[in-house]
Amino acid sequence: MGLQGQIRQQLAAAALKRQLERVSKEAGEGARQPGRAGDGGEWNARAGFEAMPLYQQVDLIRRAGDALQLRSPFFRVHEGMAGATTTIEGREYINYANYNYLGMASDPVVAAHAKAAIDRYGTSASASRMVAGERPIQRELERALASLYGTDDCVAFVSGHATNVTTIGALFSQGDLILHDALAHNSIVQGAQSSGAKRLSFPHNDWAALDEILARARHEYRNVLVAIEGLYSMDGDVPDLARFVELRRRHRFFLMVDEAHSLGVLGARGAGIREHAGVNHDDVDIWMGTMSKTLAGCGGFIAGSQPLVDILRHFAPGFLYSVGLAPALAAGSLAALQQMLAAPERVATLRARGQQFLNAAREAGFDTGTSAGYAVVPIIAGSSLKAAQWANDLFEEGINVQPIFYPAVEERAARLRFFICSTHEPEQIDHTIDTLKRVARR
Ligand SMILES: Cc1ncc(COP(=O)(O)O)c(C=O)c1O
Repeated sequence: MGLQGQIRQQLAAAALKRQLERVSKEAGEGARQPGRAGDGGEWNARAGFEAMPLYQQVDLIRRAGDALQLRSPFFRVHEGMAGATTTIEGREYINYANYNYLGMASDPVVAAHAKAAIDRYGTSASASRMVAGERPIQRELERALASLYGTDDCVAFVSGHATNVTTIGALFSQGDLILHDALAHNSIVQGAQSSGAKRLSFPHNDWAALDEILARARHEYRNVLVAIEGLYSMDGDVPDLARFVELRRRHRFFLMVDEAHSLGVLGARGAGIREHAGVNHDDVDIWMGTMSKTLAGCGGFIAGSQPLVDILRHFAPGFLYSVGLAPALAAGSLAALQQMLAAPERVATLRARGQQFLNAAREAGFDTGTSAGYAVVPIIAGSSLKAAQWANDLFEEGINVQPIFYPAVEERAARLRFFICSTHEPEQIDHTIDTLKRVARR
């Protein structure tokens, strides 16, 4: 592209960014307002959806891609197993856009267990476990997870996102306080919002700021929940869990840790941040995790004391009014957990690959933010346009990585987000950083 073309593109990008800011602000304010669908005339539901600020945001993103001549990096179709490599439109890519951290989603032993469960129980649990009954494999998975965390019991849900929403929503209500990390996952925020409790966020990983908030406000509330994550998926950094545990003792709150990205990744056996930080199992009250990442399936779980699990099994709407975990998913995740514990070398390999990626990226001069090099490494591009162009150019070069744009992060923090797994080869990582260096120089 010539200089004039580049200038035109930059101007278009700036104009689109202004529009995007306006539309996303309106979407935030008006997301729940009904659209105006042809005032006075016949009711036109399609126009009603089109009038919604959220739809305008979708449309603007589409137009931005067209104007910048960038193919959308979203909803790409993977034609086979997606791990360290994947096939899209018949071409093989090195893949950094999945959470198959230990390669279990394509492990033949995991697949064999899932297939055997289908043969025995069929493909669906068909209804809520309370009414349609349990399958032994669901309880086996729950017991294995409880044993991993050293807790009394565990309960599995059909979605990781729903696990957070329904657990937080069921346990807390008006008169309670929920404090969560500023970068907490949407499911934690949604759970807090649906609970009716007062919700506040504290600066990312800043236990000292949390301490101050608690010293000021703890006495005004009945129950207090502090929700953090074991490994943050946007930045790849880890909280100082021992500090949060110390605050828990002093301020008497329930501590919840979301292990979505840390199970299988942190700790010598992959047992998560408890193993990594060396805290006791009962220093954390609510251990939450997902089966969709290291555990090669789908769903979420809560491990903790018996009263906690009893409450959730009887009153969490996302458990009570939703189907039980499909037997094949429970069997696959149980097999993945057993494989992980039997072969800690997979976890060690993941650690080595993560560190290799982080070191190589830093040596090449890229901004990797606060990443600790455990499976998640962002490369901060500095603008949404740059992130989009880098992702697009890497894709052309056979590397699939997701860009993260404003408003998901601040504009100057727009980035590429690399998820590394144990099955990535060292040469693939070297090749990726070399290619990125070339792309960034363009
Ligand atoms: C921290 C965290 N918690 C919860 C979830 C939701 O899990 P799932 O995608 O399995 O529904 C995610 C999803 O990526 C996550 O990153």
